[in-house]
Amino acid sequence: MRTDDWLANTRESYDTVVASYADQMRGAIAKDRYLSAALSLFAESVDGGPVADVGCGSGHVTAHLAALGVTAFGVDLSPEMVAQARREYPDLRFEVGSMTDLDLPDASVSGVLAWWTLIHIPDAEIPGVLAHFHRVLRPGGRLQVGFHTGDESHLKTQGYGGHPMNVHVHRRPPERVAAWLREAGFEIEAHLLIAPDSSAPQALLFARRHPETPEARD
Ligand SMILES: C[S@@+](CC[C@H](N)C(=O)[O-])C[C@H]1O[C@@H](n2cnc3c(N)ncnc32)[C@H](O)[C@@H]1O
Repeated sequence: MRTDDWLANTRESYDTVVASYADQMRGAIAKDRYLSAALSLFAESVDGGPVADVGCGSGHVTAHLAALGVTAFGVDLSPEMVAQARREYPDLRFEVGSMTDLDLPDASVSGVLAWWTLIHIPDAEIPGVLAHFHRVLRPGGRLQVGFHTGDESHLKTQGYGGHPMNVHVHRRPPERVAAWLREAGFEIEAHLLIAPDSSAPQALLFARRHPETPEARD
């Protein structure tokens, strides 16, 4: 599959589901003690920001961070998601963009949050994406990655109330994601496994850019 095909399919899929996605996600973090705690830990570690919420969707996570006192902004591939986020949180900044070509200056943020969005990036593109995360973070800056665990990929053809989608979802073992992060110049600070005994296990990895390394290690 050509790069522009999977990116275009992902963009179109999230453009299609935006209204029901926003309805389902609104207030969801406050109801989940593990996600809330993870965001609080992240917020405490980023020196007030700025934080880039990459793959921000309809903006509810960005807004949660802002409510915790962090200067946060969102970036998402889907123009409709960004439009929804701007409507819902008009005081916050949201931009259209892809993490495969992240348009942020070097060392410009103290945190990058990437929740359930690397799940749509094929393995071959992950090192390039993580190199962007590393580049835009200040030395010592924090990265938190959330994802579905497992070891398979499938094509999701509908979602969020039965709307048509055409997007690949990649489930990965936390150890594999951690290894990619280390290769990109990150140090792993913690793993959190959420619902590991359920049919939909998830993980959060807490990482930081090495304070002493100006560039990702070779
Ligand atoms: C499952 S949603 C997660 C949204 C939000 N992070 C959350 O946790 O609720 C995945 C989001 O990632 C975005 N996305 C997918 N590929 C992306 C890319 N290459 N660059 C930026 N955003 C992307 C989608 O448009 C969608 O809004």
